[in-house]
Amino acid sequence: MHKAETMAKRVLVLNGPNLNLLGTREPDIYGASTLRDVEQLCAGTGKELGLTVDFRQTNSEGEMVTWIQDARKTADAILINPAAYSHTSVAILDALKAIGLPVVEVHLSNIHQREPFRHHSYVSSVALGVICGFGVTGYRLALEALAEKLQ
Ligand code: DQA
Repeated sequence: MHKAETMAKRVLVLNGPNLNLLGTREPDIYGASTLRDVEQLCAGTGKELGLTVDFRQTNSEGEMVTWIQDARKTADAILINPAAYSHTSVAILDALKAIGLPVVEVHLSNIHQREPFRHHSYVSSVALGVICGFGVTGYRLALEALAEKLQ
C-alpha cells in the first residue's frame, strides 16, 4: 500500500470570532463548555476515529483565510465554525472554494431559530453538510462524518 494511504487523516478544526469566550459568552445560547473543553472533545474524538486534529481559533478574518489557504498542504479536511463570519464573509467562502478540501460546517446554536441575519451562511454552499443546534456535540458529529468521508 502507498504510504499516504496508511497515514492518519488530518482534520483542521477552525473556530471564528468570539468563540474564545465560550463558557462565559451568552451561556443560555452557547452553553457552559469552554473552547478548551471543545478542543479536548475534538482531540479525544479524533483519537477514537484515527484522525489527527489541529484545533485553532481566531478573531481575525484574514488569519482565518490564511489558515484555510495553508490547509492545502497540511490537512485532508476542514471542520469550521466560522461564527459571525458565516453570515458575512465572501473571503472565507472563496478560500474554501479555492482549496477544494471537504468541509463540514458547525454551529453550536440552531442559527435558524435565531435572528434572520443568522439564517444564511456563505460557507454552507461549499460544505458537505451543516450541523447546528447540538452544542459541542456538533463537533463530535462533524468529526464522525468527516472520518467516514475520508475512509
Ligand atoms: C455560531 C452562530 C453565529 O451566528 C454566531 O455569530 C457565533 C456562533 C454558533 O456556533 O452557534 O459566533 O457560529
